[in-house]
Formats: sequence, C-alpha cells, structure tokens
Amino acid sequence: MKVSTTIVFFALLLVLGITNITAQSGSACITPNKENARCISIYSCPVLYDAVSTTDPQIIQFLKQSQCGFSSTPLVCCGKQANYVTRTSFSDNGGAAAGNLLPPEDQCGVQINDKVLNGETAGLREFPWMALLRYRNASGFESNSCGGTLISDRYVITAAHCLIGAIRTFIGDLISVRLGEFNTQTAKDCVLTQGFNLCADDPVNVGVSGTIPHPQYDDTSRDRLFDIGLVRLQRSVTYSDYIRPICLPSPNERATVGNFLTVVGWGRTETGRYSPTKQKLLVPVVEPNRCAATFRTQRVTLRDSQLCAGGEKDKDSCKGDSGGPLLNLRNNGQYFIEGVVSFGATCGTEGWPGIYTRVSSYLSWIKQNLKP
Ligand SMILES: *[C@@H]1O[C@H](CO)[C@@H](O)[C@H](O)[C@H]1NC(C)=O
Repeated sequence: MKVSTTIVFFALLLVLGITNITAQSGSACITPNKENARCISIYSCPVLYDAVSTTDPQIIQFLKQSQCGFSSTPLVCCGKQANYVTRTSFSDNGGAAAGNLLPPEDQCGVQINDKVLNGETAGLREFPWMALLRYRNASGFESNSCGGTLISDRYVITAAHCLIGAIRTFIGDLISVRLGEFNTQTAKDCVLTQGFNLCADDPVNVGVSGTIPHPQYDDTSRDRLFDIGLVRLQRSVTYSDYIRPICLPSPNERATVGNFLTVVGWGRTETGRYSPTKQKLLVPVVEPNRCAATFRTQRVTLRDSQLCAGGEKDKDSCKGDSGGPLLNLRNNGQYFIEGVVSFGATCGTEGWPGIYTRVSSYLSWIKQNLKP
C-alpha cells in the first residue's frame, strides 16, 4: 500500500504529537522493548513508518513510546519491532536459559543522554547503572559511603575494600543499595532540561542478601590487589530509564594510553568532597610503567590487574566514589565497565593518577560467583 508522505506526516502528528523530548538524531536510545537502538527520523525507520496507519491501540501506544525527539520530522527509537515483545521471549534468547545471568548484550550499557548545562553534572538519566551503598554501624548510625555499579538485575559490582576490612570498623556493615539516585539531598529529583522540567522516578532501595569480596583481597596490603567484590541484592530489580545494567568488557577489550574514560559518582571517597548530585569526569589512561614508577616511590607495587587514569593538573579527580565505575564508551554508544575505583593519592593531585581494579582481569571470577 502506497501512502503519500504528507498523509503519513499528519498521521504521525496525530499519533505522536510534538513532545518536549529532545534527543539528537542518531543518538543512542532504548526502545519500549528495552532494546538498544538509535534515535532517527521515522522516514529512515521502515518498521515503525509502516505501522503509522494502524488503528491498533497497542501499536499506537508503542509508536508514542518510541518517539525520542522532533527535528523537522518526528524522531523514533528504531528497534526491530513495531509492537511490544513480551519479557519472557527476551530472557529465552540468550538470558538465563543459556546459563548466563548477565543481561543480553543489547540491553546493557545504554542510557538516555540528557543535555545538561553544567558540564560536570550528569544528566538525570545518564549512567543509570550507578549504585550508592548504605552502611549501618554498631550504634545504628546509617550513612552512604561507597559506590557500585549494577551488572545484572541482581548484582552490583564494587571494590572489596567497600565490603571488608577497615570500612566495617569505621563506617559499618553494608545494609542496602540505592539505585536510580541523582540528588542525595532531594526526595524528588527534577532537572530543567531544554526548557522543561524532567523529574526522575523515585530511587529504589534494595536490601543486600550477600556480599562477595574477592577471597584474595587483603585489606592490610598497600598494593590493594584483588580489590573487587560483588553485592547480591535481596530481590531482582526492574529496569527503567533510571535503572539499567552496565556491560562487562569482553576478554580482550581494554583501554589503552590515549583513551579517555569516564568516572561517575558523588565523590564518596575516603578523601573526597561529597557532591549532592551525580557527577562525571573524563580522565586519560596513564601509561602503566610511568604510573607504576610513581607509586613505587610510595612502596606500592602495581600489577597488570590494575589500571591508572587521571592525575591531570586542575582536574578534580574526586568525582567518583570508592567502589564506583571507570567507564569506557564503545563506538556504538554502549558503555562498559573498565575499572572499579580502588585507591589514589589525595584527590586532584597533579602527577598522581587514580588506581582502578581492571574488570577484564576478573571476568571468570565474576561469572563464577553469580547465582540465579
Ligand atoms: C556510629 O557513627 C556515629 C556517627 O558518626 C558515631 O557517633 C558513633 O560513635 C558510631 N558508633 C560506633 C560503634 O562506631
């Protein structure tokens, strides 16, 4: 059936309307079926374009949810279907059935890019895998201390030093994990985004049913090898625009000198300043031998399972949280977790990079420790 372009355009306006959503054409987006896709003109997306003349209310709803912007033509998040695919068919292909408890490759590491005026403040829906860890000490006092990163609907990855050792004496035991947080000081988080007020879903607090610090981690060692751990949540969480898992690197995927990586967090390190809002910072990967030589002067021996980044002049390297992620961006717009914030010298000291646990060195350990 041949439909004239004009008729389709007006049908689109009726179905979609002109919304305030302001993604850029070509940017990454998430379809109503939670697939990773691109936000493009509906005329470049045959699967959705063909569905416009429908009268099926479910498909109309799907089209509405697919709209991701308007730039002279409606932009849609162009996935593989023009209708809802049930969740079970997703987990059937490649999910739990394949003995893999990690999300399928097309469901991790993707976010909605909200444009923000202040360059170092993250967007409301940026980095939806960020987790804040909550602790309680022996007298019942509670505080947020470390950060972590959601890797599946049931597990958060963090640093071992956020789970065992001195932290238990000084901060307490880990009791819960907060997901979908943006501003720790406001109950409802809203941000003026391109002239309209976008409000986030309420953050989700989930109890912890177990912690798995790497068994070879030694909290008294200066080298902090094996500084990695997993947190099992009491229940599985539902993904949304504000809560999504990060991708793990593939075995050979690793950052090299010259790459810039992203540190994200609220600055909850041992020495850092706290920020109420989620912050982001690009840091350069530092040449390993040079970094090792720097830290050797402090009797710290670095290994290949660690990586160094940052330490530039006038760059505050305290944006991240201890236990939080060092993120790497793939060419397709997907993020994966390159490192876990382990330790560093005083924040923002020139010549002293931060030290991160290299996640690709622990892929089999991670996978061995995930349970359904
Ligand atoms: C728990 O933390 C509070 C606040 O920092 C502190 O006053 C209290 O002494 C701590 N209790 C223990 C047992 O460390």
